[in-house]
Amino acid sequence: MSPWAGRPPAGAKVSLLVLLLSVVCSRTGRSERAPEFALTKIEESDIKDDSGKEPIADDDADPEDLEVFYPTHQWQTLRPGQAVPAGSHVRLNLQTGDREARLPDRENGKSDMREEKRRRRLDKMDIDSNSFTSQELKKALAKMKESEKAERMAHEEEVRKKFRPIEQLKEEFEKLNVKMETDYEIMDKLISKFNSSASTLDEKVAALYDLEYYVHQVDNAKDFLSMGGLQLVIEGLNSTEPVLKEHAAFVLGAALSSNPKVQIEAIEGGALQKLLVILATEQPQAVKKKALFALCSMLRHFPYAQQQFLKLGGLQVLRGLFRQKGTEALHVRVVTLLYDLIVEKMLLEAPQHGEQAEEKLQQYRQVRLVPALVEQDWCAVVSKLLALPEHDAREKVLQLLGVLMAFCRERYRGDRALGAALGLLRSEYEELAAQERSEGDKDGYFQELLGSVNTIIQELA
Ligand SMILES: *[C@@H]1O[C@H](CO)[C@@H](O)[C@H](O)[C@H]1NC(C)=O
Ligand SMILES: *[C@@H]1O[C@H](CO)[C@@H](O)[C@H](O)[C@H]1NC(C)=O
Repeated sequence: MSPWAGRPPAGAKVSLLVLLLSVVCSRTGRSERAPEFALTKIEESDIKDDSGKEPIADDDADPEDLEVFYPTHQWQTLRPGQAVPAGSHVRLNLQTGDREARLPDRENGKSDMREEKRRRRLDKMDIDSNSFTSQELKKALAKMKESEKAERMAHEEEVRKKFRPIEQLKEEFEKLNVKMETDYEIMDKLISKFNSSASTLDEKVAALYDLEYYVHQVDNAKDFLSMGGLQLVIEGLNSTEPVLKEHAAFVLGAALSSNPKVQIEAIEGGALQKLLVILATEQPQAVKKKALFALCSMLRHFPYAQQQFLKLGGLQVLRGLFRQKGTEALHVRVVTLLYDLIVEKMLLEAPQHGEQAEEKLQQYRQVRLVPALVEQDWCAVVSKLLALPEHDAREKVLQLLGVLMAFCRERYRGDRALGAALGLLRSEYEELAAQERSEGDKDGYFQELLGSVNTIIQELA
């Protein structure tokens, strides 16, 4: 009997935690645990900070979510379907066809950003539907395919690295003649623990927490499926205990990321409906956050799920989040999800050849996301979010506005409030960009935001 039964390798968890802490420590000022009645107060303190360095959107304050992708201050390549914490910068590298993400780089010295900018100007291009030709897109897509295999290998390497501590432990234990359990055995125990009526609530939560660690690995997630664990966590979404719901959604989201097999089984197992029920009903914010995380993992790169999502009224459910009080932290995530889904489809629809893509393309053609967005007047929902105080949030909103512009233009032209908001943003960013320049940064972050604002203003002229 191993002393490690049922627990993730301690070393790995610790190094992970250190990384996560460095990511989130500057963002925990506004805790989601703050009671809801304190919300207005929280907003005030945000607005008061007019130094141009507003705190980052608090929906990043949740360390567990970041386990999907760990942004650092360096650009890192995203794997297909990986969820990116809101507030990260994401771009398409046209040289490699990769999507890349990193933390926004503001607190941490302008020189980094300048360096980054310089490099970017040399060989990169931000994702922006207006700024690349179909020729470039084609090339990027071709490279995307080529790099798929390399990506998978890189991923395995990454996982190996993450799991190296346990390998070392295994060796040491083998030397001592202690049998080390396999991931399969550990997951089996955790599943039993979670499923057992003899387990306490805390034990069940702990089992889910540990499972989440294992199911990130694609092969483990498949085992999890064959052991019946996936169906159990899907049923867990129905639990009367919010904390179980929350952790069940967390495990589900992790198992779904970049894992088509699990995505298919989960949607057949009714996970999509259950997630939508959670998002549509009164639930603690933490539960909704994890449900939204699982929903993103379910929808990304899975057109069939996107179609079902639209059929089941998923967009209306997300829209409902904008009417409820106390869900502000979820709005930017929704905006990011919609933007990602639109761009995902756009990239596939870009002129290209190959039969392989044809079937996928057929599926995407049936995902009528943009028409549904326009019909439900998301144009207005999105443009109102420009009033958010955080630059990162605005950046996400501006991105989505950029891709929606072609469909919302008429609506926006008549919208005086939007015109006024854009005017205010323009003067704010003109000032911040000027300050940036005076510090020697010719085209820094605020210049970039100013550019986005100006583009939209021009398109409305
Ligand atoms: C969960 O427990 C029930 C009842 O004890 C059992 O029938 C079922 O097979 C268990 N499921 C899994 C996946 O272990
Ligand atoms: C589980 O959720 C479904 C809807 O998603 C509902 O029909 C069913 O009654 C729920 N079951 C329990 C035990 O709450």
